[in-house]
Order: sequence, then C-alpha cells, then structure tokens
Amino acid sequence: MRLDRFICRSTDLSKEQATQTIKTGQVYVNSSAIHDPRVQVHENNLITLKGVELRPRPPRYILMHKPANTICSNIDEAYPSLFNYISIDKASELHIAGRLDADTTGLVLITDDGRWSYQITQPNYLCEKVYRVRLRSPLTEKAELALTQGILLQGEEKPTRPAKLTVVESSEVKSTDFKSNEVKATENKRTEVLLTITEGRFHQVKRMFAAVGNKVLQLHREQIGPIHLDVKEGQWRFLTLEEIDAFTHQ
Ligand code: URA
Repeated sequence: MRLDRFICRSTDLSKEQATQTIKTGQVYVNSSAIHDPRVQVHENNLITLKGVELRPRPPRYILMHKPANTICSNIDEAYPSLFNYISIDKASELHIAGRLDADTTGLVLITDDGRWSYQITQPNYLCEKVYRVRLRSPLTEKAELALTQGILLQGEEKPTRPAKLTVVESSEVKSTDFKSNEVKATENKRTEVLLTITEGRFHQVKRMFAAVGNKVLQLHREQIGPIHLDVKEGQWRFLTLEEIDAFTHQ
C-alpha cells in the first residue's frame, strides 16, 4: 500500500496530516527517510515515525442491513450515506464490497481490506449474490429461461452470466371467502423471485428484468457467498473469522 495510507492505518493521523508528516522527513522506511507519500510499502518493511515502529491496525469486516433511501457512498448526497449508521473510528477508510442502489435494501459487506473485497466483486471469483425481487408483472416462463441462460443488456456487448432463479411460492395469493370462512389459495402470481447472480454490473438486476419486459418494484439482497443477512434494518455487526475466511477459499 502507499506510505500515506500506511500512516493513516497505523496512527490517528488524517490523510492530510500523514502527507505533511511524511514530507517533513519524520517517517523512515527501513532506516531511510522517505519524503514521498506515494511510495509503495510492504507489511514486511520497518516503518518508523519519530523513531517509533508503526504497525497497521488489523483490517475490519462488517455486515450491515442497508435501509432504503440510503446510499453506498462515504459522503451524503441526495440521500444520507450508509456510514451514518456505523459509529466506528476512521469510517472513511471503509468501502462497500458491491454497492446497492439507494432504493435497494439488504446485505452489504463493508471493509478496509481491498484484496478481500476484490474476491466478492470481481466476476471471475463467481461469488454468488442472492436478491429477492418483487416484480410488477408475473414472470413468464420465456423470461425465466432467458434470464437463467444469460441475457444481453442494453448498451452491452456480452450477455450476463447464467443466473439461478426461483419463483417464491409464498407469493401465492390467499383470499378468505367470508361467507364460508374458507381460505382459498389462488395460483402463484410469479411476481416474487429469488435471483442469484455472480456479477455486479451497473443496476444489473433491474436491467435484467427490464430486458424481458418486466419491472422491479422492490429489491433486497439476502445473501453474498455463504453469508446471510441476520441483523435488523439499519443494524450492523463485525463478521466472524470463519465468515471472513469463507471468501478466501471460494
Ligand atoms: N442490481 C440492481 O439493479 N440494483 C442493485 O441495487 C443491486 C443489483
């Protein structure tokens, strides 16, 4: 990582303060004073500030349940940033492994470990993301086939990777006949589905359903790789060591 980042990760200094400290010659890498904040350093290097050896904080791994009308950005824009919910030191060093749209809810993984998040976001790692999708119109079997085989999205050259799709049976419409007090289940309307994809193209799920003439009314991410959402909306927790390691072996 860059020297200025290393200093931020191992002290309480902000990026600007770290840059100034480096420029004034107070930081040594393997006994040489380094004045350039952009120099790349390695964890095996001996890095000192005013003679004291620095060690970076261990990386952080967080699971959060994103509420609607929040954005996956480090600063507030049209909607408040998700990070307003996370009271933690140096939150500005964290990033989201696979952003969700402002109106999408559900599971987000947050970290300051870029190598780890790469395994979640890079399509080559085939990390599965499961979305619960509520649709405006019943999903036709033709559309289901197209989505599972891979579909060419508008403005793109390569079709999407094959996806898994399950129609959620609980979307059966139940009605009560008040005269006989009988509960009748009419046919499954096929308007709620679970979609599993291994990519993260821009607005991918919404565009996939648009490409088959449907519209996503509600979108919620339930799972990333082996990790399920298990906290309430707006809440977060640190991942366990097992959960962190699950991605390194995928
Ligand atoms: N696909 C979308 O269209 N939106 C999201 O937020 C996530 C996946």
